[in-house]
Amino acid sequence: MRVVVSIGGSVLAPDLDPDRVAAYAEAIERIAADGCEVGVVVGGGGVARDYIGTARDLGANEVELDQLGIGTTRLNARLLIAALDGRANLSPATGYDEAAAALRRGEVSVMGGVTPGQTTDAVAAAFAESVDADLLVYATSANGVYDADPNADPDATQFGSMSPTELVDVVLPMSRDAGASAPVDLLAAKLIDRAGIRSIVLDGTDPSVVVDAVLRGDHTGTDLIPTGTAEPTYWTAEEV
Ligand code: UTP
Repeated sequence: MRVVVSIGGSVLAPDLDPDRVAAYAEAIERIAADGCEVGVVVGGGGVARDYIGTARDLGANEVELDQLGIGTTRLNARLLIAALDGRANLSPATGYDEAAAALRRGEVSVMGGVTPGQTTDAVAAAFAESVDADLLVYATSANGVYDADPNADPDATQFGSMSPTELVDVVLPMSRDAGASAPVDLLAAKLIDRAGIRSIVLDGTDPSVVVDAVLRGDHTGTDLIPTGTAEPTYWTAEEV
């Protein structure tokens, strides 16, 4: 199975804790050791927000701010590459072909952001589409997709599973609402919908959750199941 895992910067590096990054590297190695080809897209998290906020105060324009954001995603990606100890590409891929080439060489393919005007949510969806991934996993700080912001609305209900088309409908109003943040942004949702990528959105605070989700389909987040698609055969073919 070929899988792309998107790890939010706020999940991988809310602070600079080598043990947390090492635990994530170990989770990725377990998935690879099981026979999966693994691509990883790393976000910028709080570091990105700090740099962007400071540069905004200095009068930087939006593209300049995005370039700073991309730089921080690549810094975080380099932390994971360091922890993967020779199993990954030497430096974060700066484009989709470069990322796909690393997969072909048998490496864990790690990348951060690519181009201004988007987030790593969209990068992960485009990477997954470009390599025909069987599965895309978003390891975020929210445990799946909810019908409202669970931090602001006590009645918010989690979707156990939904189609990517339904995801677009849920995320669209959130993208218009300043302050509300969707676990997967609108561009990513549209790319997942367009390409029909089987995906999972889950709370990635504990990296072992990502291992169970990838290897067995076990998780408590949200499944995004394109209409008319079957479960990845990898899950059903496994010896128990
Ligand atoms: P992230 O994808 O990390 O943003 O990109 P995020 O939604 O805050 O995600 P978490 O917290 O890591 O989960 C950080 C910033 O980098 C720029 C954008 O400015 C984004 O806000 N960026 C990232 C780009 O401009 N292009 C990219 O391809 C990726």
